[in-house]
Amino acid sequence: MPFSLFPPVASTMAGHVDRYYLFMWAVTLVFSIGITAVLLYFAVRYRRRDRDERPAEIHGSLLLELVWSIIPLLITVVMFVWATWLFFAQVRIPDDAIRVNVVGKRWMWKLQHMTGQREINELHVPVGKPVHLVMTSEDVIHSFFVPAFRMKKDAVPGRYNETWFTATIPGRYHIFCAEYCGTEHSKMIGTVVVMEPSDYQQWLAGGPAPVSPLALGQKLFTERNCATCHYGDSGARGPALNGLPGSQVLLAGGASVTADDTYLRESILTPAAKVVAGYQPIMPTYAGQLGEEDVAALIAYVKSLPPLAGDAASRKARGLGSN
Ligand code: CUA
Repeated sequence: MPFSLFPPVASTMAGHVDRYYLFMWAVTLVFSIGITAVLLYFAVRYRRRDRDERPAEIHGSLLLELVWSIIPLLITVVMFVWATWLFFAQVRIPDDAIRVNVVGKRWMWKLQHMTGQREINELHVPVGKPVHLVMTSEDVIHSFFVPAFRMKKDAVPGRYNETWFTATIPGRYHIFCAEYCGTEHSKMIGTVVVMEPSDYQQWLAGGPAPVSPLALGQKLFTERNCATCHYGDSGARGPALNGLPGSQVLLAGGASVTADDTYLRESILTPAAKVVAGYQPIMPTYAGQLGEEDVAALIAYVKSLPPLAGDAASRKARGLGSN
């Protein structure tokens, strides 16, 4: 491969990020050269010529002060507005994105598609379609970095981080771990394979019959007898799970939290951390018994549960008032 200063530009965001990077680089370059040149010129032009020389005092210049305040202000406003636009474009996940779960583990990347296909250190995606990555780690902090997409996100144990990309050119692109994670950090690499949609469909259809996270979640939910307590009645030992994801949950002690994926994960692994108001901390911990993929599967299943008949009933079952 011939030497190139930049990785390939292969996502919808990559060009935007490069233009901003070049702008920042140009501003830095212009000021560095300009200031150095003026510094050298003044050093020569205003050097001390003899021992008794006393320069005239300067009492300031309003015009000069305005110029060197307003010009940097305008430049930094451009930097701020542009960077903010980029930031929001990167954090807002398109609604039609394909979801892929990413689990970092020393020293590999485990990826799972919602249709069930599992991959290690390889991610197959269709060209031109947004892909939503939901990532976590089984051990230490890793960082999922695809230079060709100008996309990098930490995979942090104990929480879910999200990002997305839309690949624009079919091909194979490097995945790196961008957070030092131990001896084989440098070998924690992989490949994103961007395919034409028809090839992607073919790839999805090939291989052994996959088990989707939803199906796995349903199986685990039954195996672990979750419904013994979470059967969705207001008299149950555990709060109803129907309609729970995304809602506000009132906790014992008065605080309230949003039931996002990170909360659901915590409530499965360390249930005593945030107990729902009106319930006893009787749920056993599943830390060490369920892997990250199992937890993600259970969350997918809980999200698929239909809301209970009568929203008021389900809110009451979760310890919420009638707001
Ligand atoms: Cu994983 Cu560095």
